[in-house]
Amino acid sequence: MSFEELYSEIKSRLNILDLVSQYVKLKRVGKNYVGLCPFHSERTPSFTVSPDRGIFKCFGCGVAGDVITFYMKIKGLDFKQAILDLAERCGISVDESLFAQKRKEKTLAELNYKVARFYHAQLLRSEEAEKARAYLKERGISEETVRDFMLGYASSNGRILSSLLRVDAKEIKQAEELGLIRRVEDGGYIDLFRDRVMIPIFNEAGECVGFAGRTLDPKGEPKYLNSPDSQIFKKSEILYGLFQTKKQIKQKGKAYIVEGYFDLLTLWQRGLDNVVATCGTALTERHVAKLKNLAEDITLLFDGDEAGRKATLRAISLFIAQGILPNCVVLPYGEDPDSFFRSKGEVEGPPDAILASFTFNALEFIQKEYQEKVLSKPKSAFEELVELFKSCRDPFLKKRLISFLATLFDIPSQEVAKALSTGIERDEVSEEYRETVEEGLCSHPYRIIAQYLVNYPKEAQTLKEAGLLEILDDSSPYTEFIRTLLSAYDAGVDPQEILDPFFQEIYSDLFFSPPFEDERSAFEQILHFIMKERARLKIERIKECLEKGEVSFEKGNIEQYLYQIKHTLRLKSCKIT
Ligand code: UTP
Ligand code: MN
Repeated sequence: MSFEELYSEIKSRLNILDLVSQYVKLKRVGKNYVGLCPFHSERTPSFTVSPDRGIFKCFGCGVAGDVITFYMKIKGLDFKQAILDLAERCGISVDESLFAQKRKEKTLAELNYKVARFYHAQLLRSEEAEKARAYLKERGISEETVRDFMLGYASSNGRILSSLLRVDAKEIKQAEELGLIRRVEDGGYIDLFRDRVMIPIFNEAGECVGFAGRTLDPKGEPKYLNSPDSQIFKKSEILYGLFQTKKQIKQKGKAYIVEGYFDLLTLWQRGLDNVVATCGTALTERHVAKLKNLAEDITLLFDGDEAGRKATLRAISLFIAQGILPNCVVLPYGEDPDSFFRSKGEVEGPPDAILASFTFNALEFIQKEYQEKVLSKPKSAFEELVELFKSCRDPFLKKRLISFLATLFDIPSQEVAKALSTGIERDEVSEEYRETVEEGLCSHPYRIIAQYLVNYPKEAQTLKEAGLLEILDDSSPYTEFIRTLLSAYDAGVDPQEILDPFFQEIYSDLFFSPPFEDERSAFEQILHFIMKERARLKIERIKECLEKGEVSFEKGNIEQYLYQIKHTLRLKSCKIT
């Protein structure tokens, strides 16, 4: 039996009510059951289970999914482990090969761990590592932190890993797969990490999934080298430090996010132990979703420079999309969390308290950030902020954002609401609120299209033929969702059986969303949207060619472009009647 088959077998055998009831006291309300959400603290129940569809959603914190994602979240397991556990609970016999697949991932992590231990021992003992030890000391990293985070040193030798692993051909292959070594022309292998301080990266379960290596040479490039993504290492999902800090984050219901490995280490050392760091990538919605499950009180603690402030704005938008308004720390210009705390004596108090006077809520931060622009270029400031807030779906948060913008720009709330395409009138926000398809298509088109496709699979083919796939860009998690959904429909696969918990979360969320009032008009508006988008993209491409001077001014060419422009303009102005 494959993982796919196991997945649907578990779903058919395991009643979601039975499983959820082991963790949540449920009460029947109509067709659904409700209870207090186990993923965030609440007094009135907003956690809802639909036994008919086998899915759940919390209308408070937004978590949603099926029986497997519920189990993953409540137990903190990865997908495959959850499947294997649940299969056992249901008494389904599992193919050896599946254990083998899971074992392979374990083996890869174990190999990383072996290498981490080796680098660690090198740092503690090798003579060559003296400069690395001096470097860490100079940066104020204690021996205890070195041990807590298993920091290491990779020799400049460059062939040391392959000689360590050579006895086992399988390990060599796995190390290659993990990007730790690479075959070179002479038939030997060269190490990826050379003469670097090594930072092993652990997943939530404490498995070593990758590395970052910091150069010791102040001019060395790149400053940080990261393991490439692999079967077990996905930078867009992993949060550095979470394994060590998860307990404290849960306990305090509060998390700090930093952007650098050393920022995290320094904070940890100062006793700020509810912190995570991204691994050399910008924050993604997957990071946000993961954190949101652990704590609602989030503080962004980025560098005190232009780049840090930009990253803060971007992160605010990601959190707003998931219904959270984070706090933001504004450090003195030029400082990062590491340098900032190292310039502060321990006597100045606990880190939380030191940060307090630099901390603002996201709206205060934005107000400060945009103070000048609101006066000098109000129109573009307004547009930028609308763009930033547009992804908000939580009606209460949205209301707050609307009144914030209305005050900031001194314009009526209705105008702001219109710009955010919410149609919410002042004081009229309610859970019953239902936006029109037209409004939705303006502010979050891909979610609307995904919602439509979930509810009306029979129209999928028509929308595809209209060019839906061509207009999907990668700025929204829903575009990936739509692609997967469409290929499932194509293959005649029930979307409920798609083997991706992230997909299932979105799927359940959309299923619980209120259906469209008028299916036909929704369909037509979506079709119109696709056509308009196609036209816009085409014109953009033509413009790009013209700008790059890739057009030779021959008569034939020019005629062709004119024809295309005319054609697309016609599409653009067409109205569905
Ligand atoms: P910074 O350039 O702000 O470095 O990059 P830092 O964290 O202050 O590093 P130190 O204090 O000089 O050692 C922030 C983060 O961006 C990623 C790393 O995750 C780093 O911690 N990064 C940076 C890379 O992945 N590669 C690089 O070349 C540079
Ligand atoms: Mn730094």
